[in-house]
Amino acid sequence: MNQYFTNNENLKSEYRKLKYNYLEHEFDFTSDLGVFSKDRIDFASKLLIETYFKNGRKNINVLDVGCGYGLIGITISRIMNSTVDMIDINKRAIHLTDLNIKNNYAKAKVFESNIYENIKDKYDVIITNPPIRAGKDVYMKILMDASNYLNNDGELWFVMNKDHGAKSTIEKMKNVYDITILDRKKGFFVISCKKR
Ligand SMILES: C[S@@+](CC[C@H](N)C(=O)[O-])C[C@H]1O[C@@H](n2cnc3c(N)ncnc32)[C@H](O)[C@@H]1O
Repeated sequence: MNQYFTNNENLKSEYRKLKYNYLEHEFDFTSDLGVFSKDRIDFASKLLIETYFKNGRKNINVLDVGCGYGLIGITISRIMNSTVDMIDINKRAIHLTDLNIKNNYAKAKVFESNIYENIKDKYDVIITNPPIRAGKDVYMKILMDASNYLNNDGELWFVMNKDHGAKSTIEKMKNVYDITILDRKKGFFVISCKKR
């Protein structure tokens, strides 16, 4: 079965448009078959970015892990005036993000990386709506190993549903990070983790 994180070169293309507005900022995204939440802005991703817009730092460098068609990194780049690197394992997601970076005039670049495999820099913020369906090994590695790619005062931000084990994940992460829960809605927690 095709998942949103698998590469399938035979999958046909059916571009579709998604709009996202926040205050005076307007964004137009191109989405396609074979990427996460292809037909609508995902509720959890929206909750994550809008919590970040209210509480996060501006004018920094950010890494968006598992960028999909590019919602998180592209909106942060423009609204928080930040420079953003964006990565995904899915080639179609990378292609869409590249297109969307250009069409939305974002200060961002996208490249392929399986988790942090191709990451050479360190960041002020790493942000992710992690790929739960890729399995616990993958998403826990994204969350736990983020500390290796954060600057000293860096923060990891993520969103997770209580049904996907948000509370037990937080417990495990307490060994590495100081954790703050910034918002919770419809079972989703928005969590920021300060590197110790
Ligand atoms: C829940 S989706 C979030 C997509 C996008 N950030 C959004 O909010 O719409 C998770 C993303 O992680 C990507 N992903 C899955 N496994 C990955 C891996 N091992 N390394 C990097 N990205 C991965 C998927 O392809 C997918 O785009």
